[in-house]
Amino acid sequence: MISLIKGNCNNIAKDLDDNFINVTVTSPPYNKRGAGGGIFRKIEYDTFDDTLPEEEYQSQQIELLNTIYDKTVEGGSLFYNHKVRYFDGSSISPWAWLTQTKWNIREEIIWARGMGTEISGYRFTQNDERIYWLCKGSKHPRLPRECANYGSVWKFAPDMKNDHPAPYPLILPVRCIQSVLSEPGLVFDPYNGSGTTGVAAKLLGHDYIGCDLSEKYLDDARNRIENITQRDMNIFNQCSIMSANNLTSFFS
Ligand SMILES: C[S@@+](CC[C@H](N)C(=O)[O-])C[C@H]1O[C@@H](n2cnc3c(N)ncnc32)[C@H](O)[C@@H]1O
Repeated sequence: MISLIKGNCNNIAKDLDDNFINVTVTSPPYNKRGAGGGIFRKIEYDTFDDTLPEEEYQSQQIELLNTIYDKTVEGGSLFYNHKVRYFDGSSISPWAWLTQTKWNIREEIIWARGMGTEISGYRFTQNDERIYWLCKGSKHPRLPRECANYGSVWKFAPDMKNDHPAPYPLILPVRCIQSVLSEPGLVFDPYNGSGTTGVAAKLLGHDYIGCDLSEKYLDDARNRIENITQRDMNIFNQCSIMSANNLTSFFS
């Protein structure tokens, strides 16, 4: 089952059943407040401008993360892709609000992107993002050896061939999901975007629910998930610990 829902994820998540989600993989808009651009394309979304007052942004994130916690099975996981943001003289790390949620913070993973947007020379080029692995309750999954061996610094490039303004690469949700979910389950992404998490979920044999504010992004994502491209398939086959051809034996 693949379900793509248009609307505000804070509301949609509240309507899901309790103890329903096995794993969430997501990347929210970063509330860049107009920062960015230069020689790289500035991130401009279809339906909103990513400029909330920071306090409101963080309280919305905390509310969403806590709702997803309630909807997640005991021992379930949430992988949260974000970054440290620098504004004038200050910096804001996601730790500022993650520590205020119900989640148990299991690990901070550095995503070494290889390229960064700040190339003015006024700072060292920021070429990392973060992926926070959060777990529900005191139980947590034991990682397959191949996945534990990824280490806590993940080196892969962003996806430059995706029309969405801020996609993550397919390898990211594939790594996250296959690390914690070995039986068919329910994967959630409240910020669906181009549907990268949905592609990973489908190819790994899971059900998927994704939400987005933009009808256009949802249409594009529906098409991408229904008609998996050879490119997505090739990337999946390179980064999956099982090949797509081998799905049945993995789950039997
Ligand atoms: C950083 S992008 C996610 C990209 C996605 N990981 C991918 O690989 O394509 C964030 C997405 O969240 C959507 N969005 C922003 N605020 C939202 C909200 N309150 N509810 C649902 N979707 C939202 C935006 O339209 C955008 O597509």
